[in-house]
Amino acid sequence: MSGNASALSGNPSSGAKGVLLDAVDVSKSVQGPEGQLDILTAVSLQVREGESFAIVGASGSGKTTLLGLLAGLDTPSSGHIALDGNALERIDEEARADLRRRLVGFVFQSFHLLPALTAEENVMLPLELEGRDDARARAREALEAVELSARRRHYPAQLSGGEQQRVAIARAFVHSPRLLFADEPTGNLDQRTGQHVSDLLFSLNHDHRTTLILVTHDPKLAARCARQITLDSGRVVLAPRAPAVAP
Ligand SMILES: Nc1ncnc2c1ncn2[C@@H]1O[C@H](COP(=O)(O)OP(=O)(O)O)[C@@H](O)[C@H]1O
Ligand SMILES: [Mg+2]
Repeated sequence: MSGNASALSGNPSSGAKGVLLDAVDVSKSVQGPEGQLDILTAVSLQVREGESFAIVGASGSGKTTLLGLLAGLDTPSSGHIALDGNALERIDEEARADLRRRLVGFVFQSFHLLPALTAEENVMLPLELEGRDDARARAREALEAVELSARRRHYPAQLSGGEQQRVAIARAFVHSPRLLFADEPTGNLDQRTGQHVSDLLFSLNHDHRTTLILVTHDPKLAARCARQITLDSGRVVLAPRAPAVAP
């Protein structure tokens, strides 16, 4: 398969071929009540199209902040991030929003469904934002894929946590993004439900070659990803490595 071939060949640090996300020396500091707080320091990583990549680390180590930067939701204090070859620091917020809509899907720990909309309406939302007229049909297909067709008229409050997260996953992939970010997607779920939700995420990665960037503090979940880095106080303590590349 071409997916395996590209994952096993080449030097990850040279050339942009197949690199979907490239972060170089990314730092983020904020002004707190006690002066400057360095949340992230010189984080570099590269993720190739079709890969699964885990960001692990203790609570407060900077994982969510990093995800927000990589997705172009927030801007770094210094450093460089390119998403599909687009340097995020060189484009304005409108262009970043456009890039996110086309390229990116999100799954959050706390689901983030809109309570006043049904499951189906929640899933339709990204397509409606794109002005597509097949939103309802596509949303039904996506809900079918997460085995929730029977719940499509339910409101989030009428769904279990696992069901809400499956709706959120359907919403995240309904517009076929090339890159899916998931921030502790199983953090609020029991083990069995969490397993079902992570199986869904990895099946998107395997079956559709959707690049998956997963934040978790569950080592077992991280181990299902092809690569992982660990953050400790905003620094990478385990450098990302591509398989079959000599040190
Ligand atoms: N906007 C902010 N202002 C001040 N401190 C922040 C802000 N965002 C995050 N932090 C702090 O940065 C650290 C990392 O936060 P976060 O990225 O949420 O970590 P994680 O997701 O790994 O738990 C925490 O100490 C948090 O309190
Ligand atoms: Mg977090």
